[in-house]
Amino acid sequence: MHKNTKEITKIVLRAAAKARKETSAEPEPKLTQSVNWPIECVVGPGLEGAIACESKIGYVNGSKGWLVYRGYDVFDLCANSTYEEVSYLLLHGQLPDASQLKEYKRALVQCRNVPGTLRLLLNFPVENMHPMAALRLGINLMRQEFTYEDQLDHKPDSTSSINTDEDAIAMETVPQGENHAVYEFSEKKFKSKSDLTGNELESAASLNSCYRLISGTASIAAAINRIRQKHFPIEANLKLSHAANLIYMMTGKIPTPEEERIMDIALILHADHGMNASTFAAMVVASTLSDIYFSVGSGIAALSGPLHGGANEQVIHMLREIGDVENVKSWLKKSLENKKKIAGFGHRVYKAYDPRARILSPLAEYLAKGNKEMLPLFKTAQCLEKEVVSTIGKKKNIFPNVDYYSGLVYHSLGMPSEMFTPIFTVSRVSGWTARVMEYLQKNRIFRPRAMYVGPFNKQYVSLEKRK
Ligand code: ACO
Repeated sequence: MHKNTKEITKIVLRAAAKARKETSAEPEPKLTQSVNWPIECVVGPGLEGAIACESKIGYVNGSKGWLVYRGYDVFDLCANSTYEEVSYLLLHGQLPDASQLKEYKRALVQCRNVPGTLRLLLNFPVENMHPMAALRLGINLMRQEFTYEDQLDHKPDSTSSINTDEDAIAMETVPQGENHAVYEFSEKKFKSKSDLTGNELESAASLNSCYRLISGTASIAAAINRIRQKHFPIEANLKLSHAANLIYMMTGKIPTPEEERIMDIALILHADHGMNASTFAAMVVASTLSDIYFSVGSGIAALSGPLHGGANEQVIHMLREIGDVENVKSWLKKSLENKKKIAGFGHRVYKAYDPRARILSPLAEYLAKGNKEMLPLFKTAQCLEKEVVSTIGKKKNIFPNVDYYSGLVYHSLGMPSEMFTPIFTVSRVSGWTARVMEYLQKNRIFRPRAMYVGPFNKQYVSLEKRK
């Protein structure tokens, strides 16, 4: 680990120590045992309390504020690992050894450039779409670039693949001089898609597709950001880590080791979170034996909502609306009187402090120090947290969730607010793909029922006689 990032590790360790002092990390017996189907459970609206499957991928103890990926406490992963290690862990079930990690990183790097996808994406009015809509579209186009799913009988036909040689698009390879430096994809580097798979096109149900999605989602999100800013997309830097390359492709700047480490931790923290709405959406689609690109597309659609991943974008608008620490009390009083939900607070599962917010808060503070724009926003956020927790928080078990401080972190790293949810997506694609692959091993199509509460025996009235 770079010596400048030691301070960041200390911040994580301090947050972990505080959490461990305040609450215990223990599994709930009822939610951590093997299931003998069928089982009885108490189910609330929105399937609250329903157990839909077994999983070894991750566990959330909402009453203790404890988050586990494949048996590892997320605090330990944030302090010691990287996003590449964590996404491998989620997908493969164990941390990689040195050679597995090297090979995995090589595979991800090889999937970084998605020229055919970007060529198709540039035909759409990306700058007028919400980035989550554009990202969802981009994932569909990736499916077109890399899989043979839409070909007759699902048979690979290399002649109809999108060839990167014919596919050169204008990109910036030297963004520091971006006013002049417009280049095309280097033919040699991206000549064939065969390096990863041995095939020109591949099945959309393979592990390779997961790698492509984990790597490619970052590149598409970054390209969307660039297009929105009226720049060309930036060619991936194959030497950088996933986190550093994401910042580079988004902003054109190679991040400092501290910035890279903080983005890496933010990606780790967002990688998986049980059967949340977007993961569930992805799994429902997969359970029909559709494919993993469609699953991820559905996850993106679900994550975009303001009650889910879209809340991080709302938070920064809210903090700007409040304007200053002095206005916090009156703003909150008015919001609560109007029965408004405060963005970035509350959670369906956590009824304790969200462990992810415990880490993101001091990281946001670290980045905000000395930043004229961000420091007042951070102070406002901190003050609002204190007020919410001391008014409704303790009564209703409402604390900051992951979305409360993440936007402040991303914004300090140079990301515009409308890209916060896409960056969340870049990370969560690991959890979606891991859970989909796991579920497919014992697939059963999802099919809950609704309680019909409408009438029966109504007499059909012809159109002319209807009032
Ligand atoms: N602000 C004010 N009051 C709240 C908030 C909030 N953010 N969240 C919950 N409450 C109140 C509710 O009004 C309700 O009060 P009542 O019992 O007096 O009616 C009580 O707390 C319980 O809330 P529910 O709505 O039942 O909580 P639920 O589990 O259904 O919803 C949710 C969770 C959707 C996240 C909710 O807390 C919310 O809307 N938060 C704001 C949006 C947000 O931050 N979403 C991101 C969540 S994290 C993620 O998805 C990545």
